[in-house]
Amino acid sequence: MQKILVFDTTLRDGEQSPGATMTTPEKVRLAQELEALGVDIIEAGFPISSPQEFKAVAEVAQAVERPTVAALARATTADVDRATEALKGAVHARVHTFLATSDLHLERKLKINRDEALRRIERAVNRARSQVEDVEFSCEDATRTDLDFLCRAVQVAVEAGALTINLPDTVGYAHPEDIRQMLQAVTANVTGIDRVALSVHCHNDLGLAVANSLTGVENGARQVECTVNGIGERAGNASLEEVVMALRVLPRYYDRFYTDVVTERLCPASEVLAHVTGIRPQPNKAIVGANAFAHEAGIHQDGLLKDRRTYEIMTPEMVGARGTRLVLGKHSGRHALARRYKELGYDVSNAELDRAYELFVLLADRKKVVHDEDLLAIYFQGTMDDAPRAFKLEHLEVRCGRTPSEAVVRVSHNGGPVRESSATGDGPIDATFTAIEELAPWEMQLEEFTIQAAGGGRDAIGEVHLLVRVGGNEFSGRAASTDIVDAAARALLNAFDKADHARGLESKAFARMDLWAV
Ligand code: KIV
Ligand code: ZN
Repeated sequence: MQKILVFDTTLRDGEQSPGATMTTPEKVRLAQELEALGVDIIEAGFPISSPQEFKAVAEVAQAVERPTVAALARATTADVDRATEALKGAVHARVHTFLATSDLHLERKLKINRDEALRRIERAVNRARSQVEDVEFSCEDATRTDLDFLCRAVQVAVEAGALTINLPDTVGYAHPEDIRQMLQAVTANVTGIDRVALSVHCHNDLGLAVANSLTGVENGARQVECTVNGIGERAGNASLEEVVMALRVLPRYYDRFYTDVVTERLCPASEVLAHVTGIRPQPNKAIVGANAFAHEAGIHQDGLLKDRRTYEIMTPEMVGARGTRLVLGKHSGRHALARRYKELGYDVSNAELDRAYELFVLLADRKKVVHDEDLLAIYFQGTMDDAPRAFKLEHLEVRCGRTPSEAVVRVSHNGGPVRESSATGDGPIDATFTAIEELAPWEMQLEEFTIQAAGGGRDAIGEVHLLVRVGGNEFSGRAASTDIVDAAARALLNAFDKADHARGLESKAFARMDLWAV
């Protein structure tokens, strides 16, 4: 049997999804989840793109042991060096360098000719190989590249020492037949191709990313690049869970292949990502959608009761999908909470449990019965914050149901005096945000705002994710509550905590610069 390497790029290409920006602690938490899931390679980010991204890659590199950690680099010395530096702490490090090879990209975007492209590929791969053993080279826009030139580019990368050659369908334009022809051409025409791992990386603009990835496997690709929930640029990347389960559930095509993915961890990984980004997969999403194992029609339910195989090609247990269960109530203790988190697959530290228990007690008092979804919403509150709590919501009062809505807020900052502000707005959230903004020490723009119910029922917890821009930087905020206006206010203050922390760091850096100037 041939192992198919699963290269997860949720933290890099996935993060390029609108609204999916992740903080360093969030990336670290997800990387740990990906390690438990059993992926082979975690692409942690693009270190040269910003100091925050560099830090995130460096911390992910140190946080996991078994998987290889990859960092992306354009085909330049500066990019490659920055990627290598970020990967210093990794047990297994891979530099992933890339250059576009289609004439369209060379002529219009890079404004270089094919010969210059070949020179850059050689230089970049050589540079990377002088620093790390494991180097991957990607021909960006491979599926729109002239096949003869594609083979020449791959030949150069192989001779310069790349150990993995990735052929992306960057714009999701390929048909499975194109993937077959491309892989067959490269396999037939590149000397030494048998010494490297071929890889596919497919985007989903036409909904063909998974089909194209599987066609890649059928035609010699030994690595598939994909993301949890299929998140990624535009319509996303090939969905990891779909590729993995197709390989597992369709032995009539794929009995020669296997992956090391622990399929029972697919739904938990999907859940963590959804909580971190606020982007839930659509309900009918294959494998991880809320309805992926729901059977509505009477005929189907009847068939299932007689024999599950009548309407189920895999069981929910195989992918770690769990039904909603009523679990805890106001008399449940700390131990019961810890046990339930463990059963749900979460390793909760003592500090996290203390915080979660505090919130649980408040919630159980209001809700009477607490569902698994509520427990997860509680768990994700503040677990991945990368800034200390500076702003505290001391009081919130809203009047709505008529126009305009009115809000009164009281906020303290770093334990200082409590300040009050009131405002009106188009709805209670608008009024609350205007009131909070008046107390803020800066101007802000709200860039994104989502609110989702965790679980069903009129007393469901509302989870708010938002993104604000303060002084040219973006900060995400997250909070959950059965009171959605309260959740929105606290999510805004959560983003303010991060802005406050960033300001503090900046002023420390300035202080150091003054010292250097002396
Ligand atoms: O889609 C793409 O071409 C990429 C490369 C950087 C691998 O993401
Ligand atoms: Zn991509």
